This record gives sequence, C-alpha cells and structure tokens, in this order.
Amino acid sequence: MRPGLLLLLGLLVLSQGARAAAQDPRRDGILADYAAAARADDPAFAGFSAERGRAIYLGPHQANADFPACATCHTDDPRRTGQHAKTGRPIEPMAVSANPARFTDAAAVEKRFGRDCRSILGRVCTARDKGDVLTFLISQ
Ligand code: HEC
Repeated sequence: MRPGLLLLLGLLVLSQGARAAAQDPRRDGILADYAAAARADDPAFAGFSAERGRAIYLGPHQANADFPACATCHTDDPRRTGQHAKTGRPIEPMAVSANPARFTDAAAVEKRFGRDCRSILGRVCTARDKGDVLTFLISQ
C-alpha cells in the first residue's frame, strides 16, 4: 500500500476514535447529572461554559500557595501528561482527546473533585463548577 494511503487510513481511524471518545455514554451521564444538580441549585442555570471551566482550571487561586491551580499538577495544556507537584508521580492527561478514559467513572470523578477542589479552591465545587471543568476538558 502507498504510504500516503496508509497515512490517510490512520488519520481516519484516529478521528473516528476521537469522536467515539467524545460520545462515551458514561461521560454524558455524568454531565447530565451535574446539569440536573446545577438546575436544582439555580433555576436560571443556562448550561455549562468551557470558558468558566478554563478559568477554574488555570487559576490562579489563593487557597493553597503550593498548588495555585488545577494546572499545577494537571499542566497548563491538559493534553499533556501531568505530574503531581508534591510526589512527582505522573498523571495521565486530563483532555478527553488525549485520554479517552477520562471522566467515565462517576464515583472516581466525584471523589477527586471533592479532594482537589477543597485543596486548591479552599471550598467544595458546585455542580456547575464541575460541569464547567468537564466541559472545558472535553473540548480540549
Ligand atoms: C496536587 C496535585 C493535583 C492538583 C493541584 C489537582 N489535581 Fe486533580 N488529580 C490529581 C491526581 C493525583 C488525580 C488521580 C490520578 C488520575 O486520575 O490520573 C487527579 C484526578 C482528578 C480527576 C479525576 C478524573 C477522572 O477521570 O476520574 C478530576 C475530575 C480532577 N483531578 C480535577 C481537578 C480539579 C478541578 C483541580 C483544580 C481545582 C485539580 N484536579 C487539581 C492531582 C491533582
């Protein structure tokens, strides 16, 4: 087979993969649950915002001088492999395009939001915050 054709086929497979990843029903379910909770918190809730999610992700926040942002561990570019700022352990990319397994286990997502929001923002994240962050990371 000609190399050009092989490349084309490879790109086709990759783009199909990315689309399938973006449409994982478990991730859609997690987002739908956050949307329902956000609506219950505020009847004027008008949908999630990747821009608000980006602002939460990039900070900087004041609660924790060692970890001023989610990006401190998860990197400014969420498509890259992160690194725990304290332990140095690698953290798989947060962007769904780079890591299709992201945000597919509701309990794991909730657990980490609980822990990471408290330590970086100094408060729990609202359902809207969580949906905004996921919407940002799904868009990356
Ligand atoms: C001190 C380092 C650190 C910081 C800062 C940090 N995280 Fe994390 N985060 C982790 C680790 C470690 C994991 C678990 C390993 C993994 O999921 O790859 C994780 C996982 C997550 C997950 C789970 C993803 C999934 O697919 O289940 C979410 C959601 C998350 N973080 C959100 C955030 C948000 C939002 C912030 C900022 C408010 C943040 N994190 C800041 C270390 C950090």
